Amino acid sequence: SRTAAVIPAAGRGVRLGPGTPKALRALGGTPMLIHAVRAMAASRAVTLVVVVAPPDGAPEVKNLIADHSLPEHTDYLVVPGGATRQESVRLGLDALPEDVSVVLVHDAARPLVPVDTVDAVVEAVRDGAPAVVPALPLSDTVKEVEPGAPGEPEPVLSTPVRARLRAVQTPQGFDRDTLLRAHKAVAVDGEGATDDAGMVERLGASVVVVPGHEEAFKVTRPLDLVLAEAVLARRRA
Ligand code: CTP
Ligand code: MG
Repeated sequence: SRTAAVIPAAGRGVRLGPGTPKALRALGGTPMLIHAVRAMAASRAVTLVVVVAPPDGAPEVKNLIADHSLPEHTDYLVVPGGATRQESVRLGLDALPEDVSVVLVHDAARPLVPVDTVDAVVEAVRDGAPAVVPALPLSDTVKEVEPGAPGEPEPVLSTPVRARLRAVQTPQGFDRDTLLRAHKAVAVDGEGATDDAGMVERLGASVVVVPGHEEAFKVTRPLDLVLAEAVLARRRA
């Protein structure tokens, strides 16, 4: 059973601020996307990485990957992405060869996920779970609110029990057919999902959580870049 990783990297990175597309920004001198590709290729299980590039950036991304070394056991493909994350993931799935039976979906924006987390997700899928997500308990208490105008006070509706909540990360791992069915179903009923496992839940298939890792955080806002640089510096020390 061959395992492939699809890496959606087509986002602009609006919350990070103006500049190059987020996945192409440097972290410790190397583009974030290269860190993410290497993080997937670090797993012996992953023999193919499908990178979903910004819509007009596939040739550039192809050259970028060619200029950086990857482990020998890993091939890569580059395809152009779409307007939403969900569409980008689907375009990546469309490029998978027939012999892939386990699929990881990993955000380029989580460049520092440790290989042990990747391996744990792959193992849980190989052990029979159709969908697996790495996740961590929350440190903040979470409130559900009635969203109001920006800056206006918002009424609180409820406070979910924190101990039952998990913040989900990537790579999320799937049995290939389950993930393809989920993407087809969502394409038909239309509503957007913020993660791939959420689409599988809508199918009624079971999704399980395995322990995530603090270093699998998503680079979203400028402060996250500060943290990512510090994590890299600590690794290199
Ligand atoms: N992504 C994608 N195609 C899109 C939008 C997002 O492939 N049309 C990818 C991003 O490149 C990123 C991952 O999905 O690796 C998670 O998305 P997010 O962190 O939201 O990145 P952006 O959408 O780029 O950032 P922002 O929402 O701040 O613009
Ligand atoms: Mg986004």
